[in-house]
Amino acid sequence: MAEQLDERTLQQDELVPPGTSSRGTGQTILITGATAGLGAEFARQLAGQGHHLVITSRNPLQLVAKAQGLEAQYGISVETLTTDLSTAEGVDVVAARLRQREQPITMLVNNAGSGLATEFHESEAEDELAMLKLLVEAPMLLSHAAIQAFLARGGGRIINVSSVAGFLPEGSYGAAKAWSISFSRWANTRYKPDGVTITALCPGPVRTEFHTRAGIDTSKKPRWAWMDAEDVVREGLTAAAEGRSVCIPSRRYRSLMTAARFSPDAVVERFSRIEPKAK
Ligand SMILES: NC(=O)c1ccc[n+]([C@@H]2O[C@H](COP(=O)([O-])OP(=O)(O)OC[C@H]3O[C@@H](n4cnc5c(N)ncnc54)[C@H](OP(=O)(O)O)[C@@H]3O)[C@@H](O)[C@H]2O)c1
Repeated sequence: MAEQLDERTLQQDELVPPGTSSRGTGQTILITGATAGLGAEFARQLAGQGHHLVITSRNPLQLVAKAQGLEAQYGISVETLTTDLSTAEGVDVVAARLRQREQPITMLVNNAGSGLATEFHESEAEDELAMLKLLVEAPMLLSHAAIQAFLARGGGRIINVSSVAGFLPEGSYGAAKAWSISFSRWANTRYKPDGVTITALCPGPVRTEFHTRAGIDTSKKPRWAWMDAEDVVREGLTAAAEGRSVCIPSRRYRSLMTAARFSPDAVVERFSRIEPKAK
């Protein structure tokens, strides 16, 4: 019986309609990298809408503290998974939770990520590989597990947190983010008719722990360039609810990315070089 309930077809309007209260609908949303930055903001906004959460990161103490805080503030339940998503074992743990039939996940936010401050030729090859595993391999494998589970249940949503760097010549970080944009565009077209939507969320720079963790100097970045985490997440959730393939939050960055698309490579590269490496 429980299995029948879990496998029932989810109606599209049952799936995470942001901005509307869905308390009591029993939806459970999995967010990777939810202890800081954009992931923590996703957790805050989704908990505020009454959704139960599964949150992941590598730090068990921070995870438990975050879970307890969200449960106390919003009256929802929060599971924690301590995993390093740059490892196969870490990805397996999260993929298994996505496939679980009890308290099924209805939405996956592939958010965990990090950058490198060093130029490609100066960085350690193993650091480049670990970044690629975190930014490409993990979201690909988790999307694979989620899409299989969502198709079996009749619906679901994925948000891949990408970056405007994915539209620009921005080193291996930008190349990894370009993968998530391209993958989301294809996957959304392919699976939307089956009730599964995939959205690439592409913010510009946001003040989180990202730059300090990587040691990226942001002192020369102009004030206008920064985006607000709350706005980025709100726009991402709206885009996902509308089933859009790509979301570039803010008109300013949409215009810039349109200009970059139609500008010669040399001009875009020059603009890119002015900016710090990873966004
Ligand atoms: N901030 C920006 O300017 C910006 C702009 C565009 C896109 N993005 C993208 O937005 C996403 C979130 O970044 P953020 O700015 O919120 O960064 P952040 O503040 O540094 O938070 C990153 C989160 O990911 C987790 N994480 C990092 N490495 C991990 C690993 N190997 N395995 C599992 N979890 C890991 C961190 O927890 P632990 O370290 O404890 O594991 C933390 O919860 C990333 O994909 C990033 O590329 C950021």
